[in-house]
Amino acid sequence: MSSKTRTILVTGANRGIGKAIATGLATSNQKDLILLGCRDLKMGNEIASSFKNIQALHLDLSSMSGLDKCLQEILTLYPQIDVLVNNAGILYEDSALSISDARFDEVLQINLLAAYKLIKVLAPNMIKNSYGKIVNMSSGWGQFEDGLTGPFSYSLSKAALNALTLTLSKELPASIEINSMCPGWVHTRMGGSEAPRTPEEGAKTAIWLINRDKPSHSGRFYRDEQEISW
Ligand SMILES: NC(=O)c1ccc[n+]([C@@H]2O[C@H](COP(=O)([O-])OP(=O)(O)OC[C@H]3O[C@@H](n4cnc5c(N)ncnc54)[C@H](OP(=O)(O)O)[C@@H]3O)[C@@H](O)[C@H]2O)c1
Repeated sequence: MSSKTRTILVTGANRGIGKAIATGLATSNQKDLILLGCRDLKMGNEIASSFKNIQALHLDLSSMSGLDKCLQEILTLYPQIDVLVNNAGILYEDSALSISDARFDEVLQINLLAAYKLIKVLAPNMIKNSYGKIVNMSSGWGQFEDGLTGPFSYSLSKAALNALTLTLSKELPASIEINSMCPGWVHTRMGGSEAPRTPEEGAKTAIWLINRDKPSHSGRFYRDEQEISW
């Protein structure tokens, strides 16, 4: 567990796994400040009102121009973000040949390009501070070894997010840890009511990655606190 005070940004944290990560982190280390990224500030503020160390912030990943604007506002208030959890994600069921261009672009924008943009903007300060952790919320459906068996655009975006994790781990200095994780099949709006895991169970590996001490590994893919193959 880190002994320093950290500022941790979680995207898509107003519900589902992101909310469980944000609230789990706030409870596990009360010195950390958790920035709860959300499109609906009212929902975010309701969650934050029960915690001294959660601050809800407007963060919409739908377009690069909107994201730039949100980031400018966030960085004015919190110039040093030490930990980033790229959790927000969307899923469409459409097949490769039937998906509209607009939906395909939307999936890549939220699941991949916004995650990359956030890393690109936040990593330089992490490097300057010689400390940083980045968790990319991926999926077993983005796992080559498992055959990329999910819906086309979703699997493609998560496989690309994994590629981003691995390639960036080679470029970032050792002081910055970047990893991908799969939360398992989780009962959320995305996962549906049949899913066996609670959001809190789905959040556990992210919290473990963020709170674990050195020596730790970068450029890996995890589920249930265990490394899995790409
Ligand atoms: N559930 C599962 O079984 C499962 C399995 C593997 C991986 N995952 C991954 O886990 C992550 C969280 O999934 P979940 O199950 O918690 O999904 P969820 O309940 O559908 O929540 C998705 C979150 O992402 C946010 N989001 C969507 N579009 C956004 C945008 N344009 N800008 C900002 N935020 C946006 C949503 O905000 P709004 O409320 O504003 O829409 C919401 O907070 C995703 O990356 C997902 O791919 C989930």
